[in-house]
Amino acid sequence: MYYPDELVEEIRERTDIVDLISQYVNLKKQGGNYVGLCPFHNEKTPSFSVNREKQIYHCFGCGAGGNAYTFIMEYDSVSFREAISALADRAGIILPDADESEESRRAADRKKRLLDIHTQAATYYYSVLISADGKTGYSYFTDRGLTPETIKRFGLGFTGKGNGLYRFLKSKGYSDDELKASGLVNFDEKYGAKEKFWNRVMFPIMDVNNHVIAFGGRVLGDALPKYMNSPETPIFDKSRNLYGLNYARRSSEKFFLLCEGYMDVIALHQAGFASACASLGTALTGFQARLIKRYTERVIITYDSDGAGVKAALRAIPILKGAGLSVKVLDMRPYKDPDEFIKNLGSAEYRKRIEDAQGSFAFEVMILERDYDFSDPEQKTGFYNAMAKKLLSFEDELERNNYIEALALKYNIRIDDLKKLVAKQSAGIAGIKENISYTKKKERVKEDGIGQAQGLLLTWLSNEPELINRISGWLDAEDFFEEPYSLVARYVFDEYENCGTVSPAKIINRFEDVNEQTIVAGLFERHLPEEDFDKTEKEKVLNEIVKRIRKQNIDRLARNASRPEELQKLMVMMSQLEKLHISL
Ligand code: UTP
Ligand code: MN
Repeated sequence: MYYPDELVEEIRERTDIVDLISQYVNLKKQGGNYVGLCPFHNEKTPSFSVNREKQIYHCFGCGAGGNAYTFIMEYDSVSFREAISALADRAGIILPDADESEESRRAADRKKRLLDIHTQAATYYYSVLISADGKTGYSYFTDRGLTPETIKRFGLGFTGKGNGLYRFLKSKGYSDDELKASGLVNFDEKYGAKEKFWNRVMFPIMDVNNHVIAFGGRVLGDALPKYMNSPETPIFDKSRNLYGLNYARRSSEKFFLLCEGYMDVIALHQAGFASACASLGTALTGFQARLIKRYTERVIITYDSDGAGVKAALRAIPILKGAGLSVKVLDMRPYKDPDEFIKNLGSAEYRKRIEDAQGSFAFEVMILERDYDFSDPEQKTGFYNAMAKKLLSFEDELERNNYIEALALKYNIRIDDLKKLVAKQSAGIAGIKENISYTKKKERVKEDGIGQAQGLLLTWLSNEPELINRISGWLDAEDFFEEPYSLVARYVFDEYENCGTVSPAKIINRFEDVNEQTIVAGLFERHLPEEDFDKTEKEKVLNEIVKRIRKQNIDRLARNASRPEELQKLMVMMSQLEKLHISL
């Protein structure tokens, strides 16, 4: 960042967010908050809320949110630097000469140079592709049905064997250090410079503002690894970007199509589905889900039809729902992925599949069904119970009843019987809301709400930081492993330790990007389950959540553990968890 953190924080502290936003939006006091019509989307009833205590704003309608800086950046479409200077002016603070913070300026310059390197590299790879040297690459793309326009629009490229890119970038004046930092060139003590991508077709990865921030490269044949991606760099964090989002965000479709890979996105766009995007060869993260939520309310998952794709869809559903999105799953059978489907059946047929896509709940139940053998009465009962338990995830009774009716019809059970089963499932956890009470053993879809529990607890801790003392020893920042919770948790715990308080607005400052700020602000403005609970219930819920998060983390560590000692240790941790009791 350009200015020292303390200064940025001081300016923010001297700016009251309610006063600031009142200059732009007509706010009315309502309870502890100030509400008004959201300036970031069209609405007739106010869902935009400003919180003086936390010094943040959040729109429950469109998800916009952040602190005073975010507001100025979003409202006036300016950079963080410009927002600082606007708010400094307003607070009567004179900014030091920029070169007083030489170091932060250098960091900003370095990032700028990294972006430039990527732009240059993309230009280079494209020029190779359309040259005689790139013929194999070019026919690879055209053989896969891509048009010259599509190739250009996605800036596709080719890299041969050798160090052409390295020489090209050197001729543009970039140093070896810079090239190393870009991840595009590696340096070997003995052999010197060696490019990361060799003999591959190249896919530039762009951020929402159309800056090239990384590359994916695919082999021409069947060699492995099929795809190689840029490493993490100061400008590329793969868990926070989506391939194709720069185009998808501008599309007029009412939904996003979420697919697995580069070629799926490109094929869909070429076939006229402009809202396709993909997470980059990793499981979808909460961060990405919230990013999507900034632009749409509805997601249709169109992952590969194979086992891995189904598994990935089951994992993505709760993450997307956790971000407040409505989720459907598209069936491409008998074809494997969107690319293959459209090649065989065409885009009109794909459009039909979009219309027929089933709700994520129906999809989950359909997959659940596969695990049970209906000819065995015991297993059949097991399935009904599992289904009843899943039905508990609907908070809204009306919605739940609709699903109960639909499922009863589908599986030929009496509605009342299914209702009874659901009631039985919920009796065991009376008083505690469903979404955090899913910890029964042998839970099949146990990923449900990983982020939910973590996010909930963070909101809670920011409201009542004293709770950090209560839970310490049982849970610490490391137990929050899902982005963006892990970073936010670290900040929340650090802040409390250092200052004895937690200031959401200050924590938001730690994130430079507007999208990130918005996402983090959303975390601090969740509706909490404990609001209408008495002390005993609250204590119960807190114990549940802490236990749940801790357990999720132990599960995760166990999945990744390889040595017996590690597993042994985790088992001890797990048995200690049984004894967990936090009293308020
Ligand atoms: P797929 O293997 O399904 O890719 O992996 P695809 O797009 O269908 O590949 P084509 O059609 O054969 O070209 C899905 C995504 O997972 C990531 C890539 O982002 C890919 O698009 N991936 C896959 C990797 O990062 N590395 C790999 O080795 C394989
Ligand atoms: Mn695929």
